[in-house]
Amino acid sequence: MQFAMEILQGLTAPSKYLPAKYFYDKEGDAIFQEIMHCNEYYPFACELEIFRKRSAELAAAIEGHRDAFDLIELGAGDCKKSAYLLRQLVLAGADFTYVPIDISSNIIDCLQEQLPLKIPGLKVSGLNGEYLPMLTEATNVSSRRKVVLFLGGNLGNMSPIEARVFCRRLRAHLKVGDSVLIGFDLKKCPETILAAYNDRGGITRRFNLNLLSRINRELSADFDVTRFRHFPVYDPFSGACKSYLISLADQVVTLRCNGDEQRIVFMRDEEIFMEISQKYTIGQVDRLAGEALFRPVERFYDNRRWFVDVLWEAV
Ligand code: AVI
Repeated sequence: MQFAMEILQGLTAPSKYLPAKYFYDKEGDAIFQEIMHCNEYYPFACELEIFRKRSAELAAAIEGHRDAFDLIELGAGDCKKSAYLLRQLVLAGADFTYVPIDISSNIIDCLQEQLPLKIPGLKVSGLNGEYLPMLTEATNVSSRRKVVLFLGGNLGNMSPIEARVFCRRLRAHLKVGDSVLIGFDLKKCPETILAAYNDRGGITRRFNLNLLSRINRELSADFDVTRFRHFPVYDPFSGACKSYLISLADQVVTLRCNGDEQRIVFMRDEEIFMEISQKYTIGQVDRLAGEALFRPVERFYDNRRWFVDVLWEAV
């Protein structure tokens, strides 16, 4: 079982870590919804503003020469933001199929059923699975031009090196003339960034601790979540905002991995690295485009210029 193996690998590494992709179980999804709507967490509101106010410009830039295309969204979720763009494209008479890709089959089934009712005339052809294998599938199914959406600042949950590898892989799945629209959270006042990951209501704290509870639920572990505290840090030099859980005591936690009981020893003040949320300058964003063989075409900022969605073309 991959979950058990990856959790054990992280907790037995010389510097302990947990893979942030596992935040998103049913409880984690619900807490993430709360994060997106809390005052301090600005990235969601910024990108929503871009899609709400600038959908006509986005649609015009994406539609390009009015040829038929597939609009593929990696990690579509409830597609609240992209729905503005989809509506605009349908209104403009664009010839396209929306291809949401998500790891959750439940999400894909819902989108497939509900989106055409909400946006009459929209063609939806969802794919359930991991991003890049499903992108391969999408390119096998049709040879139409591809436009890939990767929103929400999700690329920021990779280190800069991982992000470069990912963008190069993404490029390798595309042809010259295809394009991508990627969301980046930009460097800004350090206190604003840190507060987004350390909200007063403790929602992000619960989000992080929920992963320990998930391990308790799924791997019969005995984490006492009251003996760990949430500790986010932001380094303005590197642009890395990192979240840690810090052990409040010397303690031993047991969990079951493939039938075997495993003991994990924590020292007081020892950290578990949970997540990176990388912030970029616009110069770094442009450089990343070039390194992955894309050409920056257009930038869409929110009013405060805190977040940007960039359109890149594969060259
Ligand atoms: C999904 N991702 C872009 C969020 C972020 O901002 O890094 C995840 C998150 N973690 C804590 N708050 C939000």
